[in-house]
Parts: sequence; structure tokens; C-alpha cells
Amino acid sequence: MRRETETGSEHLVYDNKFEGEKRMFRKKPILAISSLLILTLSLVGCGGKPAATTEKEVKPIIVKFAHVVTPDTPKGQAALKFKELAEQKTNGKVIVEVYPSSQLYGDKEELEAAQSGNVQIIAPSVTKLVGLNPKFQYTDLPFLFPNNEAVYKFFASDEMKGLMNSLDKYNLQGLAVWPNGFKQFTNNKRPLVTPEDFKGLKFRTQAGKVLEAQFKALGAGSATIAFGETYAALQQGTVDGQENTYNNIDTQKYQEIQKYLTVSNHGRLDYMIIVNKDFWSGLAPDIRKALDDSMAEATKFSVEQAELLDKKSMDNLKKSGKIQFTELTPAQLGVFQETMKPVYAQFESVLSKELIDAAIKAGKK
Ligand code: LMR
Repeated sequence: MRRETETGSEHLVYDNKFEGEKRMFRKKPILAISSLLILTLSLVGCGGKPAATTEKEVKPIIVKFAHVVTPDTPKGQAALKFKELAEQKTNGKVIVEVYPSSQLYGDKEELEAAQSGNVQIIAPSVTKLVGLNPKFQYTDLPFLFPNNEAVYKFFASDEMKGLMNSLDKYNLQGLAVWPNGFKQFTNNKRPLVTPEDFKGLKFRTQAGKVLEAQFKALGAGSATIAFGETYAALQQGTVDGQENTYNNIDTQKYQEIQKYLTVSNHGRLDYMIIVNKDFWSGLAPDIRKALDDSMAEATKFSVEQAELLDKKSMDNLKKSGKIQFTELTPAQLGVFQETMKPVYAQFESVLSKELIDAAIKAGKK
């Protein structure tokens, strides 16, 4: 918006000139009237509507980028970085308006809005793409990736390219994958040390059957709730707990309404950056290149931010003293892995053996 005003600069300069004329008019009326006349005549001489022509020439391309988290998250920061770079590299020909915190669209609406072109860029967590391609639920297989490096390797794989390409038929294009981090369990009832502790509890999930099955394997219930509605659902006791990254827990302030956190690193939360395909392919080649370059740089930045903010938020949560941390021993973690393992066989036909194997391979040295 700020830049939108700036980019109307030609138009504003014209107005300001006019303001200047008005100011002059007060001081030196005759001179002011004559210069106004000269200005008017010269404009008429040029054949018509100067302001409109000038405005048309400088009218920027508006790119709306909507997401659901706060600005102080890896996604929030990388979206702002993309804005900065895109506007810089296109010399203001493109203005990126970033709408955080579900301000423009929430989980339920953003995909449709991107398909119809009401928003140009969105960045949903990959699991929220389950309705377009159920294979995106690979990310929810319990304990699939041992560390960040394995995840990044998978992002660069042919399988990930295939997943991105599968969006084409929905008039969507996957541009990049941005990481957030590993998920931890939180709840309001008791410390979760063994799978037994999950019995009878209900957890919020982002989307999809894999997450439902994961909680079922632990003896817990689950409910899919939009991110923007999760705080209220936890506060009101609609659900007892949830799973998320340190940074989302911290920036959503779940520590105010959740008493226990188990360090489990059992699942991933990462994002697919998606554009409306018609919009993207309709851009002039130089603009498109500038935006592609900006996206590549913002993607590198997102990796740095994810690692930095994950650690920072973990420290914040610990320091807050509001949420009790449970660290599991390798043996205790092993019990969770065994309990949740049947989810793999259950979803092999949906996800495909090739995809699961490629993800597992990314974790091997
Ligand atoms: C969630 O719904 O928990 C996350 O996908 C939110 C996000 O975008 O990080």
C-alpha cells in the first residue's frame, strides 16, 4: 500500500506541481494564472488526457501474497524478503502486498482464491494440499526425516518436482519449498512420556488422513481445525492438544493455553510456495525473471530463518516457564516410533512406495 502510493509518483508529482501552483497563486496571482494557462494549453496541445496516460504507464503489477502465520516466522520473514527483492529487482514495476495471519484468506479459502486469481501467491503447509494430491501427506509420516539436511535433500529430489508439477492442472504452479521445522506435541492435560499418555486425548490436526491415523495409532482422537481457529479451540477445550513447530507454538502463544510440551520431532512442517499459473505465465519475461530470482533468494533466506527461529522459539518457550518441557530418552522415542510405524503400511498405496523410499533415502548418508 505504502509503495502503491509511491508508485503513483508521476501522478503525485503532477498533483504536487498543481499544489505548488496553488501556493504560488496566493503569492503572485498574475504569474500563477499565466503559468496555469500555459500548462493547460500545453496539455491540450498534447492531445488530451495526460494524467490518465501517465498513470497508466506507471501502474504497477500488484502481487498479493497471503499466508496464515505471523510476520515473525520463517514464512513471514521470507515473504517480506521476497517483497523487498521483487520490488527492488523490478524497479517498482511490481508491488508485493503481503497479508499475514489469515488477514486475507485462511486455510479454508486460500487455495480456491489462488486458483481463481483473487490472490497471486500463497504458501500453505504441504499437507494442506492433500485435496489436490494426497501424496503431499508424505510429510506427515511419523519420523520420516532424521534431520533438516534430509528434508532439504528431499526438497531437491525428482519426487518433489513431480509433486510440484501435479498442481498444474489446477491452474497452480509450485515455485519453491520453504522449511519451517520439526513438530512437537503439546497438550493441556498431562506430560506425554509414553504412547499410553495419549489415550483419550483429542488433538488438532492441519489436514488429511495420515495425521488422523497417526493419532489413532497413539490411541488419541483428532479434529482438523484451521490454523487461525486453533488458539480458540485449545483455549475452549474443543481439543486438548496439537502438534506444531517451536516457532508456531511460540508465535501463536500456545504456551498461554497449553501446559505440556513433548520434544518428539516426529513430523515435519514445510511449505509449498504456489502461484496462480495464468498470472505467472502471463508476466513479461523480464518481470518473470526478476520474480524468479527474487524467489530463489527468498528461498535461501527462508532456510536460514527456519533454523534461526526454531532455536530462538525453543529458547523463548523454555524461558517463559509457562509450558513444561518433556525430553524423551532414545529408548522412549523408540517406543513412539514402533507405535506409529503401522501408519506407513496403511498409506503406502496412497503415497506410493517410490515416494516413501525416496524420502527415506534422503535421510541416509
Ligand atoms: C498449521 O496449520 O499448523 C500450519 O500449517 C500453519 C503454518 O502455515 O505454519
